[in-house]
Amino acid sequence: MKIAMIGTGYVGLVSGVCFSDFGHEVVCVDKDPRKIDMLNRGEVPIYEPGLEDLLAKNVAAGRLTFTLDLAQAVADADAVFIAVGTPTRRGDGHADLTYVMAAAEEIAQAAKDYVVIVTKSTVPVGTNRQVQQVVAKANPGLDFDVASNPEFLREGAAIDDFMKPDRVVVGVQSDRAAEVMSDIYRPLYLRDFPIVITDLESAEMIKYAANAFLATKITFINEIAALCEKVGADIKQVSKGMGMDNRIGNKFLHAGPGYGGSCFPKDTRALARMGQDHAVPMQITETVIKVNDETKRRMVDKLLDMCDGSFNGKTITILGVTFKPNTDDMRDAPSLTIIPSLVGGGARVHVVDPQGRHEGEALLPGVTWNDDPYDAARNADLLVILTEWNEFRALDLTRLAGSMAKARLADLRNIYTAQDARRAGFEAYDSIGRKQ
Ligand code: UGA
Repeated sequence: MKIAMIGTGYVGLVSGVCFSDFGHEVVCVDKDPRKIDMLNRGEVPIYEPGLEDLLAKNVAAGRLTFTLDLAQAVADADAVFIAVGTPTRRGDGHADLTYVMAAAEEIAQAAKDYVVIVTKSTVPVGTNRQVQQVVAKANPGLDFDVASNPEFLREGAAIDDFMKPDRVVVGVQSDRAAEVMSDIYRPLYLRDFPIVITDLESAEMIKYAANAFLATKITFINEIAALCEKVGADIKQVSKGMGMDNRIGNKFLHAGPGYGGSCFPKDTRALARMGQDHAVPMQITETVIKVNDETKRRMVDKLLDMCDGSFNGKTITILGVTFKPNTDDMRDAPSLTIIPSLVGGGARVHVVDPQGRHEGEALLPGVTWNDDPYDAARNADLLVILTEWNEFRALDLTRLAGSMAKARLADLRNIYTAQDARRAGFEAYDSIGRKQ
């Protein structure tokens, strides 16, 4: 199969590289010459474990190329995937479809024979029908179908998620398009990974419903964690006991400082907006958004308590600023709520993150960046674990405690225990949803 992938952002690049690894001929297109230059040099503009090697392998095999020339990439493609950004539109919370519709129009003008135009970007229900109209208008003679193929990969685990998905969701309106999509994903269903074929609207809705449900699950456990702290229960034990019920499942029940990232915040907002538009308020999702914001702010109160009620003049060391480990992504990260409050309150803030500095420097003014947790913690009044990078899971706590001005540890990802901290010489330890 010949595939054109429009957009080399996170989803586009991972999908393009993985499709080429299935044996398809893939051309990835982007408007940004800098990105295309980098990719042509074999450099990956995002941090994703394993992606650079897989890209190099498929470029070497002659199956994967990168270009600025959309028309040429589309001209002889069997399927064209739209994987451009759909940011939250300023002001009204809608997903901004400008890039999707612009891509649809360009594809329409460049396509020659029958082609399936597939939306991989997360788009509100009804968008594929709109894409269909835009394409039909731009090129009335074109023989084409549209398809919706939402992506469920997680940053940091993207290749595995793509290659071993729980399911692939494909929304179509013709058997012909279903056949093309089945051919594209044949390597997966030959290995028994299920493909769910639905209509266009259902596929679009599955993506929003799945992300909002996962965001709800996290927010629910965060709220239970807050109550655990008051009543003396331990959220780790509670999550374990709940998760062993197969109807609940043990995933996404880790309490923390609130969810962030490029997907849950954006998709929950867009779902809430969709509900308002159709006079079916998404009350649960709206509450999840609110509670998640409160969760992030509650972390500031927790740190304030540990600093005896004032950040002024305190030195605080933060380990991890990205929204989760194994990514350099800072979008809607809890650190963006927490750290400005510390700086604003007069604290000197030292920050360590294995990948976050590049993006973080502009977003977190007034902090000092360090590469080494031990250097960063020297003479600090408080050490905060904000993102659970593996590098922070086996720290020499005794060494850290010994070098701090006040040995206090706020473990906002529950990767240590009060006992670990006490044994290492910390005078104070706080975590999420646990007895201290
Ligand atoms: C999420 C979904 O998990 C993917 O299935 C989906 O494809 C993707 O959004 C998307 O829509 O493109 P991602 O945002 O990369 O993936 O990250 P997650 O691993 O889901 O984590 C999201 C946030 O939830 C992070 O801030 C993480 O720290 C937090 N989280 C996750 C928790 O606080 N507790 C948990 O138990 C799990």
